[in-house]
Parts: sequence; structure tokens; C-alpha cells
Amino acid sequence: MKIIISLGGSLLTSDFSAANIQKYADEIINISKKNKVIVVIGGGKIARQYIDIADELNCNDYQKDYVAIKLTRANAAIFASALGNYAEQEIKTTYLGITNQYNMSEKIIVCGGTAPGQSTDGVSANLAKKIKADLMINATNIDGVYDKNPAEFKNAKKIDKLSYDQFLDILKNNEQAPGKYGLCDYKAVKILKEKKIPLIVVDGTNPKEIYLAVKGNHHGSTIN
Ligand code: UTP
Repeated sequence: MKIIISLGGSLLTSDFSAANIQKYADEIINISKKNKVIVVIGGGKIARQYIDIADELNCNDYQKDYVAIKLTRANAAIFASALGNYAEQEIKTTYLGITNQYNMSEKIIVCGGTAPGQSTDGVSANLAKKIKADLMINATNIDGVYDKNPAEFKNAKKIDKLSYDQFLDILKNNEQAPGKYGLCDYKAVKILKEKKIPLIVVDGTNPKEIYLAVKGNHHGSTIN
């Protein structure tokens, strides 16, 4: 299978240590033995700190995105190091660069952000479209899709399987701004819907869930 994995930066940077990063790298290496994989790495806490400081400096959204993208790429570079020989080490910064690298290499491809105005889920969905991926996995810090925000509503219910229209309806009131894309980037979900690429949202705080998503026996939510 051709798989895009959107690895939330918060997973790598909440416990920012070599041991933590290696746990995720090992799962991705396992997946890559039978699949062709692109991993898109998010910005996490570090990017959000930069965005907050940029905000205090009265930067506009473009400037905030610009600096945050650099952090996603730094996270991508350290993640590629953990993958070692299994991954291409040069972090490409454009869709053309990333897809060329993907087409020319059998190794795992790692990247971060590409351009302002989106999250790394947006990058992932665009790449999924370009390589005609069979599956996109969003590894995040929540165990799936809920009918409403579980942080706000105690009676929020997790949905194991849902359609893209249901998912878009849930996401429609979410904020879409630098560092605040929440569960998923709305534009990304629209691309996946249009291209009929299934999406699995899993609790990436347990790295094994990413592997289970590929095998089909994960504990997250499937959207298609
Ligand atoms: P993330 O995709 O990581 O955003 O990119 P996030 O929603 O904060 O998610 P986590 O914490 O990683 O799970 C960090 C920020 O980088 C900018 C956006 O500001 C985004 O919020 N960015 C990222 C871009 O502007 N363009 C990109 O292509 C990627």
C-alpha cells in the first residue's frame, strides 16, 4: 500500500527525547517493510511556542506560519535521523521535491510543512492526492473522532466509523489558524473526500496504534 502518515508534532515533542523519537521511528520502519511510506511531521509544542512569541511581536498569520514551518522541518530532520538508513535524509520542502524523492527512492520519505495557510495534515492530504495514496493515517493525541469536543463536553461520544460528510460537519466550527488546527485541517479532509482516500485517526501517544492502523485492527476512527 501507498501510505501517508501525518505524525502530530505533539507526539514527538511532548517528551522531546531520543528514546521517544526512536519509538515512533521503529513503528514506521516496521510499516515500511511492506508498504511505501511518506511521513509528514508536525510542529508540536515547540512550533506553538514560536507562534506565541510571533504573536506578541505582532506578526501576521503568514509570518507565524513561516516560522512554524521551519520547526516542522527541524522535527522532520531529527525524525529522519532516527530512521537512519531506512529513510532519505534530505528534507524536501516543496510538493514537487517530495514527490520526486518518493518516486526515485524505495526508502521512507520524511517531510514537514510546505507553505503557509495550512497544517501538516494539509500537506499530508495534498501528498496523498499526488501519489494516489491508498490510505492516510493521522496519528494525534486523541483516541479518535468524537461527535463533539471531548475537552469541552463530558458526554462526547467516540465514533469508530464515519463518512467524510459527517467528519466535515464535526470539524466545521473548528478554528483554522496558525497552531490551532485541532484534530484535523478542514481543507485536508475535503481533499481526501474528493479523492476517496480513506483516513484513519489514531491515538499516536501509543506508537503501536500507527502500526495497528495499517493492519486494520486499531482503536481509533475510520473515515471514508
Ligand atoms: P502542525 O501541522 O504541526 O500544526 O504545524 P498543529 O495543528 O499545531 O499540529 P501538531 O501539534 O503538530 O499536531 C504547525 C504549524 O505550522 C504551520 C501552521 O501554522 C501550523 O499550525 N504550517 C505547517 C504551515 O503554515 N504550513 C504547512 O505546510 C505546515
